[in-house]
Amino acid sequence: MDKPYTTDVKNILGLQLPTDPRWVNLAAIQLEAILTDHAYCEQKAASTCISLITKNSEKELLVEELSPIVTEEWGHFRMVLAELKKRNLKLGRQRKDVYVNKLLAFQKKDGSPTDRFLDQMLIMALIEARSCERFKRLSEGLEDEYMRNFYRKFMESEAGHYTLFITLAEHYLDKKGVRKRWQEWLKYEKELINSEEVRGDRIH
Ligand SMILES: [Fe+2]
Ligand SMILES: [Fe+2]
Repeated sequence: MDKPYTTDVKNILGLQLPTDPRWVNLAAIQLEAILTDHAYCEQKAASTCISLITKNSEKELLVEELSPIVTEEWGHFRMVLAELKKRNLKLGRQRKDVYVNKLLAFQKKDGSPTDRFLDQMLIMALIEARSCERFKRLSEGLEDEYMRNFYRKFMESEAGHYTLFITLAEHYLDKKGVRKRWQEWLKYEKELINSEEVRGDRIH
């Protein structure tokens, strides 16, 4: 399978609204909150991949490709945990994830199993793409060089995941249908980001 992995996220993301530049500065001064939120993002990425494998066990390629992603995302969770510990910060409670909940609300309610599978792949792609874009902002905009490098590693990893979910959708479903629905998701996500206030205590 082709894996068009690239770190040139500007071209591949396709996101229609760049993150507000004020966000990086807000995130920099709320490090404990942003690391906590980030840790849970990684944890949810790992657990969602486990559940996708369970629900789609007949899809061999998906199982094969997502299994190592579970390990990778869990590794990310541990990296963030280690960073909190090093700084004597605490992993706080998980916050209500407004961004993800609003994405879930856009899924086709009365769709076929195929529609549901497509939306699941595209939601994952979108979360990975937006996370990647946010990590890119942090890796470029933070003053602390160590933290810039810290986020660069996540950025590169999530760029690969974004393309993987799109590739999986196109492997199992009609390519034209995937592209069409992806455009609808991008439009919806733009409105979502536009409607949210800029806060530095969360990744999304
Ligand atoms: Fe990750
Ligand atoms: Fe990821």
